[in-house]
Amino acid sequence: SVSITIAIDGHSSTGKSTLAKRLASSLSYLYVDTGAMYRCATLCALNAQLLTDLNHLDSDAIAEAVRNCEIGFVRGENGSNRATLNGVDVEDEIRTMGVSSKVSYVSAIPAVRANLVEQQQKMGQAGGVVMDGRDIGTVVFPNAELKIFMTARSEVRAQRRYEELLAKGEEVSFAEVAENLQERDVIDSNREVGPLVAADDARLLDNSDITLDEQFKIALSWAHIEI
Ligand code: C5P
Repeated sequence: SVSITIAIDGHSSTGKSTLAKRLASSLSYLYVDTGAMYRCATLCALNAQLLTDLNHLDSDAIAEAVRNCEIGFVRGENGSNRATLNGVDVEDEIRTMGVSSKVSYVSAIPAVRANLVEQQQKMGQAGGVVMDGRDIGTVVFPNAELKIFMTARSEVRAQRRYEELLAKGEEVSFAEVAENLQERDVIDSNREVGPLVAADDARLLDNSDITLDEQFKIALSWAHIEI
């Protein structure tokens, strides 16, 4: 069968990766979580002490540090992907608020984006890929056969992320989570390079009130793929 490229973009915590993973596993496609890559880049800059003052970032130093970091993925239990930084499993660390509160500053740096976009294009060059992020349908794969732009009401998104963090044992308040999502969406939407915006030819999917099964069926029908 044909192997297409599926680009999934959208606001924070709209369930992009949940849908992307399910599509990839049922189609036997490669799944790439580009948000994890920006989170790894952020951890890399954090480790290099380059994020102590978010209002005065040394963009060149951060971009250079990220170039010297190796970002990758390994297979975890039950077939999940786990992000690695210089060969070390950092999957849990990159999901903490410590990284979430800084990632949008690092991902706004053009040279960081150029670097990661190039890596993402290589990872998906053979097709048969589901990639999720913010600029996949606009920048990374503007010719993707299927582009989905996901959104949901902000309280629904905050509640989902809050429950996710609680389940992981992170001590965080609902307000803090809601604020972080809002802040990231504002910064991500307003940056100069690769802003969060729906591609003209993206299909909009608001999943505030629909189940995972319904989202999956809708996405498959858009892809014109029967499984
Ligand atoms: O997808 P996730 O919420 O994990 O992404 C974390 C952050 O990484 C986003 O808020 C955004 O700043 C950045 N990002 C990006 N471009 C992408 C994917 C993520 O700028 N393609």
